[in-house]
Amino acid sequence: MDKHPVANHIQSHRSTRKFKNTRIPEEIIKEIITSAQWAPTSHNVQAYSIISITDQTLRVELAHLCGDQKYVKEAPAFFVFTADFYPHSLISRRLEVPFEMEETENVIVGAVDTALAAQNALLTARAYGLGGVMIGGIRNHSEKVAKLLKLPEWTFPVMGLCLGYPASITDQKPRFPLYGVLHENHYDANDIEKAIVEYDERTLHYYSNRKPNPKQSGWSSQMAAYLSTPRRPGVTAFLKKQGFKMK
Ligand SMILES: Cc1cc2nc3c(=O)[nH]c(=O)nc-3n(C[C@H](O)[C@H](O)[C@H](O)COP(=O)(O)O)c2cc1C
Repeated sequence: MDKHPVANHIQSHRSTRKFKNTRIPEEIIKEIITSAQWAPTSHNVQAYSIISITDQTLRVELAHLCGDQKYVKEAPAFFVFTADFYPHSLISRRLEVPFEMEETENVIVGAVDTALAAQNALLTARAYGLGGVMIGGIRNHSEKVAKLLKLPEWTFPVMGLCLGYPASITDQKPRFPLYGVLHENHYDANDIEKAIVEYDERTLHYYSNRKPNPKQSGWSSQMAAYLSTPRRPGVTAFLKKQGFKMK
């Protein structure tokens, strides 16, 4: 079977962090955002907003808040994808019905909707020859980001997206073996250890040959380190401040 061009496009993904200094035409930006809007959305809530950061001073501040990730200030375009129930809050108020947002479920709905939109945006950008990288660092200091972007209640930043024409083509980062991801009818734990060992070998090979920034490490050691400390402990308090009770 020939691989379908769309599958080929999706499977040729790699994050791009170095960009040419070339402006992205406005029509392409519009296509990218239109595609974002065509992502499926839970119950048609469309619970997201996309903020295009064109002000360079703001970019510099955001790059700093994202952990001094320089591509946030250097990429030709940078968007903040924000979960957003603010319009819904206005509707409920206007119609004088309860605005029931107590459950954690709403945070999941907002984050999932936003992520699907962002992925559609990235896929479409790549179709136009652009590359990009998502920026979870936008949640490092959610409250400061919210202040800078004047985010109202019932919103929270989920990820940033840097876009631009790639300065170079990097190797693809290997993925976990398919048999470790795909299960039939029930979760099969038997092959997971084997998949981890196999993936460690492949990632060690990838990272040790990678240019620039080669390193002698495989997936296991990276994940163990990543998950050994609390991740962004301020997020819960920020979400509560934005109105989400997460009961
Ligand atoms: C939600 C999300 C947040 C991410 N945040 C960052 C980030 O802050 N900085 C960064 O350099 N890469 C970030 N990435 C990119 C991942 O590191 C990258 O997708 C992963 O290592 C796999 O590499 P690949 O995309 O090149 O295949 C993020 C990716 C996702 C999906």
